[in-house]
Amino acid sequence: VVLPIFVLLFGGCSGVQDATNPVSPQARMLADLWWAMCIVATLILLAVMVALLTGVWRSRGRRGEAPLNRRQSRNLVLAGGVTLPAIVLPMVLISSVTIHGKLASGPPDDALTVEVIGRRWWWEIRYLDKGNRAVAVTANEIHIPVGRPVKFLLRSRDVIHSFWVPNLAGKVDLIPGQTNTAWLTADRAGAFRGQCAEFCGVQHTNMAFWVVAEPPEIFSNWLARESGPAIEPLDPVVARGQQVFLSSACTMCHAIRGTAARGQVAPDLTHLASRRTLAAGILPNNRGNLAGWILDPQHIKPGNRMPPINFDADSLHPLLSYLESLR
Ligand code: CUA
Repeated sequence: VVLPIFVLLFGGCSGVQDATNPVSPQARMLADLWWAMCIVATLILLAVMVALLTGVWRSRGRRGEAPLNRRQSRNLVLAGGVTLPAIVLPMVLISSVTIHGKLASGPPDDALTVEVIGRRWWWEIRYLDKGNRAVAVTANEIHIPVGRPVKFLLRSRDVIHSFWVPNLAGKVDLIPGQTNTAWLTADRAGAFRGQCAEFCGVQHTNMAFWVVAEPPEIFSNWLARESGPAIEPLDPVVARGQQVFLSSACTMCHAIRGTAARGQVAPDLTHLASRRTLAAGILPNNRGNLAGWILDPQHIKPGNRMPPINFDADSLHPLLSYLESLR
């Protein structure tokens, strides 16, 4: 009985979205607490099962035996129903409050600050300097340096979302009109999947993101490139694609820094081609998926805020080449 339960429980865990595979001290504290609670709960379950089965066996096997008297029953209830919980529950409470306190105590001053804004149904990611100005804006993909504390300012533009990267940090809600914080330090390089963990509408399940932890030099290069504007196209097809983009309705919602496109309601596309996924973690970022997403976003992610735009083939191919050039 126990083995299939564990297989089912852990069958859903893959290495990149797995709270039992922590890669930060913060996630490790939560994982240790989880294992301790799991072991205690399993022992209690086994004790209750043994007691139950013993009772059943005795009542069937030895009919002549006298039932427990009142006092014996009362003592059993006191031991199992009052004394045991009175010991176990405070232990659980104290350990979780202690760990919460450690997680809530702030990050050091040199922490990198990243603002994460929940939107229906994607993540706006803004890297802030010491004066809280955004030096780089991206979407659905957070790069962080290994070994340096990162502080997240968590905000929402619409409804309540929840920031959760199981390998790196526990859940923290993003609440409209309020700023919550979380912080973590990645122990090693790797890409870890995060997921919105609070029901926020029809596409809640498709509101994912990636956290890419990388060595500090690689991260610095990434941030430097991400902070700059889009490169002006040299290739004539790409230049034609830029014209298509700038004269389309895309610019009403999307921004590409370095161009006249300054929309603020949809993901910043300045370095779109450098991202792994499209549509908040649900499609690998390649030319075919990009074309499908532009032509029929409502088929891929019903209810999302992106309207379909009809580009003919003469416009679509240069447009795709332009978007693919945004590295
Ligand atoms: Cu955002 Cu669920």
